[in-house]
Amino acid sequence: MRILFFGDIVGSPGRRAIQENIGKIKQKYRPQIIVANGENAAGGRGITEKILKELMNLGIQVITMGNHTWDQKDVYQFIGNFPNLIRPANYPSGTPGKGYTIINFNTHKLAIINLQGRTFLPAIDCPFKKAEEILESVRKETSNILIDFHAEATSEKQAMGWFLDGKVSAVIGTHTHVQTADERILPKGTAYITDVGMVGPYDGILGMKKEEVIEKFITSMPQRFEVDKSGRWQLNAVIIDIDLASGKAKHIERIFLNQEKTIVDNLI
Ligand SMILES: [Fe+2]
Ligand SMILES: [Fe+2]
Repeated sequence: MRILFFGDIVGSPGRRAIQENIGKIKQKYRPQIIVANGENAAGGRGITEKILKELMNLGIQVITMGNHTWDQKDVYQFIGNFPNLIRPANYPSGTPGKGYTIINFNTHKLAIINLQGRTFLPAIDCPFKKAEEILESVRKETSNILIDFHAEATSEKQAMGWFLDGKVSAVIGTHTHVQTADERILPKGTAYITDVGMVGPYDGILGMKKEEVIEKFITSMPQRFEVDKSGRWQLNAVIIDIDLASGKAKHIERIFLNQEKTIVDNLI
């Protein structure tokens, strides 16, 4: 089973980068399941129903979220209507939406679980304990399991990777918007990367206009951050191959595209 996973999609530049490249990526890598983190898809803050449908129409089957899940107020109205839009599972019980989904591929199943870290992020339930709890029921249905661990601290992400090694097919980090070069298969068969990166502006700061961010660092005054729509785009993703008999990962590969390094160059 081949999975394509896109890092946080940031605003209209991110959506456009997906739209313009997904066909070529599908052609080159032939993924069977496509997952994307959509927590910044609407102007950098959350997701709207219209954008969710737009992304799903492009062939993205599952959208994961993160600390920006609730930024668009109408998300409360529609999150319950889309089983493949998932938010971190370790939010307190009673939170709208759900933290994992199981999708079918031919006669096989893939579970996708969204978790959020607690280091330098709001205090929510323990992602490690929540992972154990969900795995107990999910493993009865499938051993093909992908985790989007949306977290800030590299150490917390590595800890999750090692904690779940051999228990899930992949632990894929999101949230920092910067792709790390540490993709690997851990010894017991779990594919791991600290952060996939993002899909969006290339010349801003984490996708936002750099001027306001620099100003905030210099003055410590509040600033309104806006998605940088002026510059170049980047598209960060990973490809993961899972052995269906065992649920173990066989291969993980980073994709990093931008105007200078397009899929066409990549094909040569
Ligand atoms: Fe993000
Ligand atoms: Fe985030």
